[in-house]
Amino acid sequence: MNRVYIKTYGCQMNERDSEAVASLLRARGYAIVEEAEADIILLNTCAVRDLAEQKAIGKAAHLNKRKRHQPKLVVGILGCMAQNRGTDLLDRLPDLDLLIGTQKFHRVPDHLDNLLATFRGEGPRPATVVDLDPEAGSQNEIRGHDSPGEEAQISAYVSIMQGCNMHCTFCIVPKTRGEERSRPIDDILREAEELVAHGTREITLLGQIVTSYGRREFPMVDGKTPFVQLLEKLHALPQLHRIRFTSPHPSGFKSDLIAAYRDLPKLGEYVHLPVQSGSDRILRAMNRPYTRDVYLRLIECLREAQPKLWISTDIIVGFPGETDEDFAATRDLFTTVGFDMAYLFKYSTRTGTPAAEMPDQVPAEVAEARHTELIALLEKRSMARHQELVGTTLEVLAQETARRPAGRLQGRTRGYRKVFFDAPARLLGELVDVRITSATVAALNGEVVTSA
Ligand code: SAH
Ligand code: F3S
Repeated sequence: MNRVYIKTYGCQMNERDSEAVASLLRARGYAIVEEAEADIILLNTCAVRDLAEQKAIGKAAHLNKRKRHQPKLVVGILGCMAQNRGTDLLDRLPDLDLLIGTQKFHRVPDHLDNLLATFRGEGPRPATVVDLDPEAGSQNEIRGHDSPGEEAQISAYVSIMQGCNMHCTFCIVPKTRGEERSRPIDDILREAEELVAHGTREITLLGQIVTSYGRREFPMVDGKTPFVQLLEKLHALPQLHRIRFTSPHPSGFKSDLIAAYRDLPKLGEYVHLPVQSGSDRILRAMNRPYTRDVYLRLIECLREAQPKLWISTDIIVGFPGETDEDFAATRDLFTTVGFDMAYLFKYSTRTGTPAAEMPDQVPAEVAEARHTELIALLEKRSMARHQELVGTTLEVLAQETARRPAGRLQGRTRGYRKVFFDAPARLLGELVDVRITSATVAALNGEVVTSA
């Protein structure tokens, strides 16, 4: 049997790539199963921080040992770590069967077919299949979703571009994902229409830098960037309730995108706007082409366009050379903006990036302390903001059945806050008015408001 388990590390892009690989494999007659039943295990990996790489390497080494009891087990590494480390990985993992890069996900079924054809005979284990080259047009290959007929995917991810040309000095993504390449608007629209026809009500557009979508491939129209053109076209799909996107870059927020927050209600009241640091000196060293003041002005403009906006961000502490003063500037920016959510990272050295060569690397315990301090600030702020919502009624998209307690549904507000509420499953996919009854740091609880 060809039973495949795919384990995904890292970001939503990786989740999406894994889903597309699973869909291609199903079409080829493979079954997607849980880990214990699998004869083929694929690890779709992340390279953004060292910890993510170490986890995947540990897992692969463990699986290779499993081959002693299960000699026909096939183990593959896909995605960002494969691209980042290349065949050097084979020094650590000589028994690996597949090593597939980020532009080759769509080739996984062919590689597996070929591998199994030789492997299932009596001969020795074939050499590792390595496919890491760039491939023109690969951004157009991530389109398959879980097959229709299964439970509707109320929230779906759609990949709109690959790669990033920004070269932030700490970031490995330009190496792992390559140059920016965008899918045509019409292709994306067709995929969205199909999803909506099968019950999808929220689409999250994915890319390493979505605000750069199509900027070199497609023209401006009426002073609007291709990204905003895409948002407008999606907005016109009648049964689609919400549109989200990740990750944007602050420099990509020109007046057309700011205006979209006023003019396109399906964008909701949420923006993720990675700032990385509040110190101009560090921003420069990171090669982030904006200052703290420019960022603050952008937040102001966005709040003007959409006064109820909830804002989240990414921050790195412990970047090389970050002094107490630099960190104080980040902490100050954090409270000045009043971020509602944040992904807070300790800087992780990525070999081959410019930051890895910079002097004054920050000691781990200093980064740790700064990290802890920001987490405490974030929790206080999130709790206070959630508390303010108790007693109010909010529009919630009912997205899935909550795991615990049974019978509850789970959804998101227009500000992307998670809400649990009792409601029948037939409301899945609907916009429901929910009165908030209690709050925690991470989520809200509420009850459906029924019209009299
Ligand atoms: N725009 C991309 C960014 C990828 S990395 C996307 O979201 O797909 C996501 C976040 O990880 C970055 O915004 C940054 O805050 C963090 N990050 C990237 N490289 C890092 C490193 N070397 N150490 C710590 N955090 C890092
Ligand atoms: Fe990485 Fe900066 Fe691009 S964080 S993904 S190089 S915008």
